[in-house]
Amino acid sequence: METKKVFLSEKEIPRQWYNIQADMPTPLQPPLHPATGKPVGPDDLSPIFPMNLIEQEVSTQRWIDIPEEVLEKLLIWRPTPLQRAYNLEKYLKTPAKIYYKNESVSPAGSHKPNTAIAQAYYNKVAGIKRLTTETGAGQWGCALSLGCSMFGLELKVYMVKISYEQKPYRQLMMKTWGANCVPSPSRETNFGRKVISEDPDCPGSLGIAISEAIEDAVTSEHTKYSLGSVLNHVMLHQTIIGLEAQKQFDILGEYPDVVIGCVGGGSNFAGLSFPYLRDKIHGKEVQVIAVEPVACPTITRGPFSYDFGDTAATTPLLPMFTLGHNFIPKSIHAGGLRYHGMSPLVSQLVLDALIQPRAYNQLQTYKAGLTFARTESLICAPETNHAIAAVIEEAEKAREEGRSKVILFNLSGHGLLDLTGYDSYLNGELTDYSLSEEEMRESLKVLDSLPQPVKK
Ligand SMILES: Cc1ncc(COP(=O)(O)O)c(C=O)c1O
Repeated sequence: METKKVFLSEKEIPRQWYNIQADMPTPLQPPLHPATGKPVGPDDLSPIFPMNLIEQEVSTQRWIDIPEEVLEKLLIWRPTPLQRAYNLEKYLKTPAKIYYKNESVSPAGSHKPNTAIAQAYYNKVAGIKRLTTETGAGQWGCALSLGCSMFGLELKVYMVKISYEQKPYRQLMMKTWGANCVPSPSRETNFGRKVISEDPDCPGSLGIAISEAIEDAVTSEHTKYSLGSVLNHVMLHQTIIGLEAQKQFDILGEYPDVVIGCVGGGSNFAGLSFPYLRDKIHGKEVQVIAVEPVACPTITRGPFSYDFGDTAATTPLLPMFTLGHNFIPKSIHAGGLRYHGMSPLVSQLVLDALIQPRAYNQLQTYKAGLTFARTESLICAPETNHAIAAVIEEAEKAREEGRSKVILFNLSGHGLLDLTGYDSYLNGELTDYSLSEEEMRESLKVLDSLPQPVKK
C-alpha cells in the first residue's frame, strides 16, 4: 500500500521559527508614522503590542527559538500530518502528486492557533491581563479564545457582522473558551457607532473590526491588541507549518515543484511557503502561488502603496498591496479573505516576483471544494477552497502537458462551521462578484494623500 500520510514524532517538532527577513533580496520598507511620515519606532507600537512581540516584528535574525511553554501547547495537535490526495489525483486523471499539510486538525480547526498561542504567551509574560482582536470568518477569534484560555487572559472579539450572522457556532466556540464576542460594527466603540450612523446596514469588514479592537485596547487598562495575520511576527509563528512539511518531504525523498496557499492577510500562505521561498532565493526551482478572491483582488489588481491596516486609519502606514483602507469587499463566504491589504512581507516577495498571485471567483472555489470533499472526504473552509481551485488547475495543466509534478498546498482549515456557504452554493444561490475599474479607482483615491514607497 502506498503512503497516505507522513507523520513526525513529537520529538521532531521544529524548535525554532524561520524569519524570512534574514534572506529577502529586497529588505522591507519600514512602517511609517501617519502624523510625521517617519519610520515608526518600538515606542510608537507599545500602546498596542507588548515589547517582546515588537522585538520579533522588527527582528532580522534568521532563526528564533520557540519558547518551551508554547511548544508544549502546540504539541496538543502538532506536528500536523502531510497527506496525499490520491483520490483527487485519480479523479483528475493527473500524473501530478498532490500533497496537503492538514492544518484543520488543530482544536480550533485551522492554522490560526499557531500564532494565537504564541501571542497569548508573549502577552502573558509581559504582564498583560486582557486582549482585544478582530475576526473575519471566526477562525482567528476562536484560535485566540483558545490561546487566551490556555494562558488565563481575558479576550474581547469584534467579529465582522456578516460572518457573525453567517457563522453563529463560531461565536459559541469563542464563548466556550471564555471570550466575549460582539458583531462589528458595534455600538461599543466610537468608531463602530460612527460607521453604524453612516450606514446602519453595513456588513462590516476586517478593516472596521480592527479599528474597533485597537480603539478598545488603547482606551482600556492592562489591555493590548492582537492581530491574526498581516504582521511580520504572525508570519514568523506560522512558519512551523512549512518547516514541518520540509522534514516530511525529506522522509518521502521528494520536493514540491509547486507550493500553493490562499491569502487573506497572508499568514497560512507565508507559514507554508516561506521556508520554501528561502530555498528559492538560494537557487532552488519551486513555483509559489498565492490565491485570493476575484471579489477582493489585493495582490492581483491593487497597487503597492503605503496604506493603513484598518478603516479608521489608526495603525502605522504599512508598505503593501492594497485596495484602499475604506474598501469594503462584497459579502463572499470566504470571510477570512475579505481584507483590503496584504502582509508587507508577502507583498515585497510578490513585487520581487518570487510569488505568483492568482485570483478565483467564489463559484469556482466552491466547485473545487465540493470536488475535494467528494474525493478526499474533507469539507474545507471556503478560504481553503481558493487554494484547492489552484491545485486543480495545476494538476489539470500537468495532465495536459503529460508532466508529473509534485504539488503541495496548505489545507488551512475545515469548513464544518461554514456550511451555510455550502448550502447556498448547493441551492444555486451564490453569485460571483467582480470589482469594476470604476469601483477600484474610487476606493484607491484614499491613497493619493499618503506617502509612496520607494521604487526599488
Ligand atoms: C481557514 C482559513 N484560511 C485562510 C484564512 C486567511 O487568512 P491568512 O491569509 O492570514 O491565512 C483564514 C482567515 O480567517 C482562515 O480562517
